[in-house]
Amino acid sequence: WELAGHRRLGKGKGKVVGVVVLDGWGEAAPDPFNCIHVADTPALDALKKGAPERWRLIKAHGTAVGLPTDDDMGNSEVGHNALGAGQIYAQGAKLVDMALASGKIYEGEGFKYIQQCFDKGTLHLIGLLSDGGVHSRIDQLQLLLKGASDHGAKRIRVHILTDGRDVLDGSSVRFVEMLENDLAKLRDKGVDARFASGGGRMYVTMDRYENDWQVVKRGWDAQVLGEAPHKFQNALEAVKKLREDPKANDQYLPPFVIVDERGSPIGPIVDGDAVVTFNFRADRMVMLAKALEYENFDKFDRVRFPKIRYAGMLQYDGELKLPRHFLVAPPEIERTSGEYLARNGIRTYACSETVKFGHVTFFWNGNRSGYFNPNLEKYEEIPSDIGIPFNEQPKMKAVEIAEKARDAILSRKYDQVRVNIANGDMVGHTGDIEATIIGCKAADDAVKIILDAIEQVGGIFVVTADHGNAEDMVKRDKSGKPLRDEDGNVQPLTSHTLNPVPIAIGGPGLQPGVRFRSELPSAGLANVAATVMNLHGFEAPDHYEPTLIEVVDK
Ligand code: 3PG
Ligand code: CO
Repeated sequence: WELAGHRRLGKGKGKVVGVVVLDGWGEAAPDPFNCIHVADTPALDALKKGAPERWRLIKAHGTAVGLPTDDDMGNSEVGHNALGAGQIYAQGAKLVDMALASGKIYEGEGFKYIQQCFDKGTLHLIGLLSDGGVHSRIDQLQLLLKGASDHGAKRIRVHILTDGRDVLDGSSVRFVEMLENDLAKLRDKGVDARFASGGGRMYVTMDRYENDWQVVKRGWDAQVLGEAPHKFQNALEAVKKLREDPKANDQYLPPFVIVDERGSPIGPIVDGDAVVTFNFRADRMVMLAKALEYENFDKFDRVRFPKIRYAGMLQYDGELKLPRHFLVAPPEIERTSGEYLARNGIRTYACSETVKFGHVTFFWNGNRSGYFNPNLEKYEEIPSDIGIPFNEQPKMKAVEIAEKARDAILSRKYDQVRVNIANGDMVGHTGDIEATIIGCKAADDAVKIILDAIEQVGGIFVVTADHGNAEDMVKRDKSGKPLRDEDGNVQPLTSHTLNPVPIAIGGPGLQPGVRFRSELPSAGLANVAATVMNLHGFEAPDHYEPTLIEVVDK
């Protein structure tokens, strides 16, 4: 674990390194729908224009971050995993693809565990119905449905969460139609396969980092208790009807349950049933996993705690071993830079607001909660405002996070001060262009506060991002022209993008001859960890992706 001192940058030891991750901040050509370009961002503009040898672009999507293909947009989980781990791992999406293709998923402990309920119980599948490839993929769900029925499941209930965040708003209708088709085919084969409940992902079930347990409770009531304010006889009608409300969108659809002719729910979860949460991504499944698995639980009144056999598509938290049973083993993200630096005496402060807190801690450390060394690390969470859409509070907690980082830097108690600034992403996901522009400006204000503090203490900064979002806010045709409906309105793009992200280094503590190497044109997020280690005065381990920097004589 001991890292060698860097040949040229050994003197970097003792200088504070500020690491800023701008969430959802890609690079794209100037355009009215490029909110980063439109927003007033003097601090970030200065980094780009100021020192061409210390600003560059790096890949943040596709195979560069361990996703199945280069058509896969980047996301925060794989992005922060790569940034923190310095290595490229085949990520959950790809591991599930492989396990389904080979059939190994049905031979594993997790599937055998739930299979024991198939004789008498129902198999419930809960997850995000989407082809976004960020948390789940509908084609994987389709294969799993078929595979489970081939392996003995006789009664299946699907509990859906509609997306509209990683995919276009309104696409929920098409996904429900697609899956209804599959369920009908299973019914033709004698399997009792139906939708049982649903709701929009941001309002039902998929909260993260314990921001708002009510979100999980709404899902619990519908999925487990069979109770929801809206009742329908089929899911397609449910989604279409609920979307008729002019304010409705896929992300925030209210919870609904499917009922029979007498009005009774057709798929509550009861003793003896099996449950699979089919999302591969961890952050927004951990809370439900706790509710399904923990005997002692006080986050909300579960009313009933059915005796079920529960498996996650993956294990979502390696430290908590949550859930205990899972269908596919998660990527073993080991020897992360956080662990190396802690074992080499580096004192770290990490901070973000709740909705991104786990990104700079849990994801950064390879989907591991907790500290490596509590004596050397401090992770601080700023509570996000609950219940107000982010386009109505586009500045979010950017300045508060920056002020915490500033104080940590000026305290000289830390060698690394790391933050995630959420605006580009969280406001970008609302599809609200005006608000996103305000959010980008707030992110720039935050960067300025941090860079000023680094200046004051003679430190070093690294400013980068985890994936694109705010730099392209419109759905485009193949030639790149914004798509418009008959009324001339553009279709907002709520999702991430395939764009590269910037990285800039600098600060008074950076040795004059340090610059980006020119021979790594296709470098990506995984190259950042070695770079940061160098800036702390260490050589990076051999198995890390190469550093982005070199030192030339000046
Ligand atoms: C979300 O979970 O909010 C989106 O699906 C992905 O956003 P993130 O990868 O930036 O967290
Ligand atoms: Co995002």
